[in-house]
Amino acid sequence: MSRIGILGATGYTALELLKILARHPQAEVTTLTTRQENSPHLSDVHPSLAGLFDLRCENLSPEDVGRRCDIVFCALPHTASMEAVPQLLDAGCRVVDLSADYRLSDPGVYETWYGHVHTDPTRLSSTVYGLPELFSDQIGSADLVANPGCYTSTSILGLAPFLAAGVIEPNGIVIDAKSGVSGAGRKPKLGTLFAECNESVTAYGIGNHRHTPEIEQVLSDVCGTPVQVAFNPHLMPMDRGILCSMYPRLKQPMSEDDLLELARSFYQDQPFVRVSSQIPATKNVAHTNFCDLSVRLNRDQLVVFSATDNLIKGASGVAVQNMNLLLGLDQTLGMLSFV
Ligand SMILES: NC(=O)c1ccc[n+]([C@@H]2O[C@H](COP(=O)([O-])OP(=O)(O)OC[C@H]3O[C@@H](n4cnc5c(N)ncnc54)[C@H](OP(=O)(O)O)[C@@H]3O)[C@@H](O)[C@H]2O)c1
Repeated sequence: MSRIGILGATGYTALELLKILARHPQAEVTTLTTRQENSPHLSDVHPSLAGLFDLRCENLSPEDVGRRCDIVFCALPHTASMEAVPQLLDAGCRVVDLSADYRLSDPGVYETWYGHVHTDPTRLSSTVYGLPELFSDQIGSADLVANPGCYTSTSILGLAPFLAAGVIEPNGIVIDAKSGVSGAGRKPKLGTLFAECNESVTAYGIGNHRHTPEIEQVLSDVCGTPVQVAFNPHLMPMDRGILCSMYPRLKQPMSEDDLLELARSFYQDQPFVRVSSQIPATKNVAHTNFCDLSVRLNRDQLVVFSATDNLIKGASGVAVQNMNLLLGLDQTLGMLSFV
């Protein structure tokens, strides 16, 4: 049994981690953290977990957490993670970081998009990007795994088969992305108040959303040539889910059947990507670790659709896939059921 810790246990991604880990046969959650001083019981913080764990969330240093755990999920905001991760690694545990702090390999790119200097820059170029569908062979031996962003993994999983096969142009790809409100985390913010976002759809972050360089970095690695996307996110009045409708240009005409076959063959050994002729819907992937994927030809325009649950396949589900790989387990262990 591996001893598991979660930093930032009061948040949304931590809640989803705990729901999965509650049924995981090889993981025992031993340590949960919060900045709160009163060590709240987990069932007060997350009432849906009542009766599943008899644990308190404690205000502990990363060193103390590291000493108590074999693997730690860092479910903190960016900047908080890069303070904790070096201390966790020094204490001898392995880390899956759910924040954006270790996803970009170039500290200059991080500084440009996140607006501050990276305090642990030397680790960036060697950190493994935790998208098992593309990088499972590198994840198992890592000490630190950078878990992908939610929009990012949904976009990457949709486009990777076609870029890898060289059938679409690597530039000018428009990504129209829509996310539920939980994508912004549990901390209250004006834009995610009920009266602000209910019964309303709006675009945001056009041209400056921080998932843009992450999508471009990973897809450029996949196809070996620079990829450039126009990433246009929208906030949807729903709790959870991401749908990406993506518009790449085909290099040569292809049929829908051939495009679907290409994607099916790319993901044939991947249990969590479902390629189908049916257009994905967020409802069909909600509370699951699946990414649903399809294509349509609208006249000559290829449209690639992908959908995930932002909190599971977009965060905590893939984080447990990564934990399984770190432990040398089948990546589906504890995962192939509906939450
Ligand atoms: N939400 C998603 O769909 C999603 C998807 C992919 C990745 N992510 C990433 O995963 C991470 C966690 O996201 P989340 O949605 O779980 O966020 P969240 O609901 O806001 O929870 C984050 C937790 O971290 C703690 N925290 C906040 N600021 C902190 C600080 N400065 N230092 C230490 N602890 C701090 C808070 O706990 P206390 O106040 O109790 O200390 C908070 O409950 C973020 O980096 C996010 O970008 C989120």
